[in-house]
Amino acid sequence: MDKTFLINEINRLKKEKNACILAHNYQLPEVQDIADIVGDSFALSRAAAKMDNEVIVFCGVKFMAESAKILSPNKRVLLPSKYAGCPLAECIDEEQLMEEKEKHPEAAVVCYINSSTEVKAISDICCTSSNAVKVIESIDKDEILFVPDENLASYVAEKVTDKKIIPWSGGHCITHARITIEDVKKIKEEHPGAEMLVHPEVSKEIRDSAEFVGSTSQIIDYAKKSPNKEFIIGTEIGVLHKMKNDNPEKKFYLLSPRLVCQNMKMTTLKDVHNSLLNMEHEIFIPESMRIKALGSLEKMLRIE
Ligand code: 13P
Repeated sequence: MDKTFLINEINRLKKEKNACILAHNYQLPEVQDIADIVGDSFALSRAAAKMDNEVIVFCGVKFMAESAKILSPNKRVLLPSKYAGCPLAECIDEEQLMEEKEKHPEAAVVCYINSSTEVKAISDICCTSSNAVKVIESIDKDEILFVPDENLASYVAEKVTDKKIIPWSGGHCITHARITIEDVKKIKEEHPGAEMLVHPEVSKEIRDSAEFVGSTSQIIDYAKKSPNKEFIIGTEIGVLHKMKNDNPEKKFYLLSPRLVCQNMKMTTLKDVHNSLLNMEHEIFIPESMRIKALGSLEKMLRIE
């Protein structure tokens, strides 16, 4: 199908079905371009809770579409590519978290939004990469069990020193884990004047080499506001689309060519069109489970 025809059809179906399209900053450029809102996990959760459309087409991965459904049960939430998952979100299940909770009965449980609905349901509060520090600071307990991203846990532990952060061991993003310190040395040698901006899902070693650590949208905003003209980007390649559009006079270098998330790249324009046309693939969550998971997301949204 011709691209212009597909875009016109998507826009026509959007009106016909009273739908809005939310897209994560890691989506393919052409998918970002047809979205009503493009953002990080926090902005998209907030949008999902506020939008008054009957249908939300979520161009991202499964846990994001599930979070939208948890927050907006009366809307039909569609995930255009049904196989778009997040290995990080899948690395801990309800049973494993229950076992961990038993080992730390005094700890508050914070789950990264990159987690399943079942894990959210037995956590005290959720967080995203943009608000993890604020979320931890808001908790009235000295011990925090933080799941499942151990790199984000270690970043937060550096920022919030009056609480004991207990990380879930081994949980990490497989895309960010592909960055090596050799990549950092090489790219810094090639571009000595560039500022390095990374996501908190990178390892401590990589984080310590960076000038700025933030969520995908915080990285995009930082590059826009900084007087610097060159940036090394330590997160998924998708963020370059907005950065280059926003700052045509600035230069962006991806820290590693391996910073491509296969799951985030699964959703194509054809999938978005198919999704709207056939109302696929709809997210369903049993109501009792949804209610349990809602608390942790709502508490997070009340913080900002
Ligand atoms: P952001 O919330 O920073 O967009 O991150 C989402 C994500 O899954 C990063 O890998």
